[in-house]
Amino acid sequence: MTDHDVRVLDDSQYRTAHTLFRGTLHHPPAPDDQWKFAQESYVPGCTWGAFADGEMIGTVQSFPSSLAVPGGAVVPHAAVSRVGVRADWTRRGVLSALQRAQLRELRSRGDVAASLRASETAIYGRYGYGIATRYRFLRIDRREAAPRTRPVGRVRFVEGEAGERIARGLFEELSPQRAGTISRWPAWWGLSIRRVAAEENLRIAVRSGGSGDDGYVVFKVVPGDHGSADGPPTRLSVMDLWARDAEAWADLWLFVLGIDLVDEVVTLGRPLDEPLEWLLGDRRACRVVDHADEAWLRLLDVPAALSARTYRSSEPVVLGVRDAYLPENAGSYRVTADGVTRVDDAPELVLDVDVLASAYLGDVSFSTLAATRRLDVVDPAALARADALFAVSEVPWCGTYF
Ligand SMILES: CC(C)(COP(=O)(O)OP(=O)(O)OC[C@H]1O[C@@H](n2cnc3c(N)ncnc32)[C@H](O)[C@@H]1OP(=O)(O)O)[C@@H](O)C(=O)NCCC(=O)NCCS
Repeated sequence: MTDHDVRVLDDSQYRTAHTLFRGTLHHPPAPDDQWKFAQESYVPGCTWGAFADGEMIGTVQSFPSSLAVPGGAVVPHAAVSRVGVRADWTRRGVLSALQRAQLRELRSRGDVAASLRASETAIYGRYGYGIATRYRFLRIDRREAAPRTRPVGRVRFVEGEAGERIARGLFEELSPQRAGTISRWPAWWGLSIRRVAAEENLRIAVRSGGSGDDGYVVFKVVPGDHGSADGPPTRLSVMDLWARDAEAWADLWLFVLGIDLVDEVVTLGRPLDEPLEWLLGDRRACRVVDHADEAWLRLLDVPAALSARTYRSSEPVVLGVRDAYLPENAGSYRVTADGVTRVDDAPELVLDVDVLASAYLGDVSFSTLAATRRLDVVDPAALARADALFAVSEVPWCGTYF
């Protein structure tokens, strides 16, 4: 018997949930002009509240989305967000109750995976979420960068709604090329682009080459005291950049690095394998200012998730999966280059579902997980087979903050 209960919220309760969540991050309630953008992101049936004595004390939400997995398939996915428990109710099992309800609901409605961004690393492993992608934040001293090459296509500004329309179309086409990317729900663009544009100097530039528009960059510039040794630098922040191929990618970066009266270019989290330094005459002009975990992934339907991705050619391996919150996932899975089947065989490697999530997109190898004692090795020879099967040629990356 608990002293609280959890239930799905209706639209009369969304603003209370939003205020509660913001309070857990020590932010005041959203003013009306911000709420207008946030409100759109409350989708019916996707927000849970925990209640005690008739008051909301905790909340958790998800946005309907999809996830690209190795091999190019895209699976139903829930982007979990706005997780908060009122500070006078923490460490009494409220989040655990919300998680239990949410995980069950997401799986039963057909989501194969869920993901989130973790405010603290200690919270989500117990619920089956594992770090599945990482990213790096860069700072480029523009005056030292001296790019080695010149643009070959055309990059033009497209302002306002027209720019957002082109960006959305290109994002939807281009992002699933990389495993770990997720589709963006309509309200994402309102909150992350239009709301910011209403407050700051956001620009959208589109690149075109031989076959039309093939990439875009969204950025903003915060003017500093250009040229002064002591004053703040004029900083250009790259918020979103997607390109169809290497040519478009290089042109977009060259465009950004070529904008006058900018001291430094900074980025939000970019893929670990993005070769930006190689574009520069002085690669030391590009500094990695942070390197962090990005997506925490939860495999809700392990058989469906394992079957959705492709595998490299290698001898099979039998994985034994443990899952305390969704026990129907527990069992042995025989992974081969041609597919995955559930079996009764004894497992060669045994791991919790959060650890499987870390290996699933290819971010970390089974050997590394074994070396750090994150999985049980029954047959040491199985490690090389598992590494070979799950190997990927491109580092997974999400690239959508929520
Ligand atoms: C994170 C948060 C939602 C946890 O809620 P909660 O109701 O206290 O969590 P629970 O009581 O269900 O905790 C379950 C377990 O996780 C542990 N845990 C929860 N949050 C933790 C944290 N931030 N650090 C370390 N351990 C934590 C608890 O100690 C407990 O462990 P136990 O089962 O071994 O006793 C709450 O602390 C909060 O709102 N924090 C501020 C906002 C925030 O960070 N939100 C997450 C955004 S991604």
